[in-house]
Amino acid sequence: MVNYKDLGLVNTRAMFAKAVKGGYAIPAYNFNNMEQLQAIIQACVATESPLILQVSKGARDYANQTILRYMAQGAVEYAKEINNGKLIPICLHLDHGPDFETCKSCIEFGFSSVMIDGSHLPYEENVALTRKVVEFAHQHDVTVEGELGVLAGVEDEVKADNHVYTRPEEVVDFVSRTGVDSLAIAIGTSHGAYKFKPGDNPRIRLDILAEIEKQIPGFPIVLHGSSSVPQDLVQIINANGGKMKDAIGIGEDQLREAAKSAVCKINIDSDGRLAMTAAIRKVFTEKPEEFDPRKYLGPARTALKELYMRKNREVLGSAGHAFDAE
Ligand code: G3H
Ligand code: 13P
Ligand code: ZN
Repeated sequence: MVNYKDLGLVNTRAMFAKAVKGGYAIPAYNFNNMEQLQAIIQACVATESPLILQVSKGARDYANQTILRYMAQGAVEYAKEINNGKLIPICLHLDHGPDFETCKSCIEFGFSSVMIDGSHLPYEENVALTRKVVEFAHQHDVTVEGELGVLAGVEDEVKADNHVYTRPEEVVDFVSRTGVDSLAIAIGTSHGAYKFKPGDNPRIRLDILAEIEKQIPGFPIVLHGSSSVPQDLVQIINANGGKMKDAIGIGEDQLREAAKSAVCKINIDSDGRLAMTAAIRKVFTEKPEEFDPRKYLGPARTALKELYMRKNREVLGSAGHAFDAE
């Protein structure tokens, strides 16, 4: 058993309490490799933002859970090193935990927060599974995110054709019976770079969010699928050999609005992938002779850092909040 506190990590409890009070959201950025991890740490240190580092099932399959956890441990030391020994709060979070065993294994291995994603299960099964994870996690002071409602699109190999919006009338029962520390909700966001079709009204249901907040005032709410798919990045990709037609995301103005409310964790992955891909494609077009990975992954890392600094400052509002008093 590895205790996350010995690794310098924190759970989400204090982070969320401060974020709800302060009207901002904590960035939850996914990582799969060293360049992403460096860019995330650099961006959050430079903007003095608290940080949730996320590991998905896809990341564990790609990079291996053991390697990723040791990378996160290294990232804590790196964050101190580039900030004169002063450590921003960093949480290591399992994204879309598929079952109890995976959550348990991450908790025993040093993760400080887990998501149990029972959103595809019938309601009572979701409650029972989430409760089981919470009982185990809380013994180790690890925080748990549950989910109610289903995002359209692909979520870790499970595909849903339509949004099943979170039902505000269920949230009090779910939160109280499971004991979760935060709740992911479905209000029209979705994973990936194709969140709306051309001609759709690309709005999320902030009215449902307001209804949910009325039911559980001040309770930490999480938004998945919150990439904005910046069109300048899509254009660079397409101008350099890419084929990303009709990629559309969530307007940053809507996310800013949500972050001012009890939404205190916003998950972003696809935008980072776009930033890196755009930078790499540009190098390949402009310098076709280049074959040293550092010469294209380096610019990709810089682009990712810049994107995430801007998100922290302009969208989430988390910049400057790393060292807020409780
Ligand atoms: O939940 C979706 C995240 O973007 C992770 O995606 O499973 O392809 O790593 P992934
Ligand atoms: P995006 O695909 O919108 O970046 O969402 C990421 C996410 O929700 C990770 O859990
Ligand atoms: Zn997600």
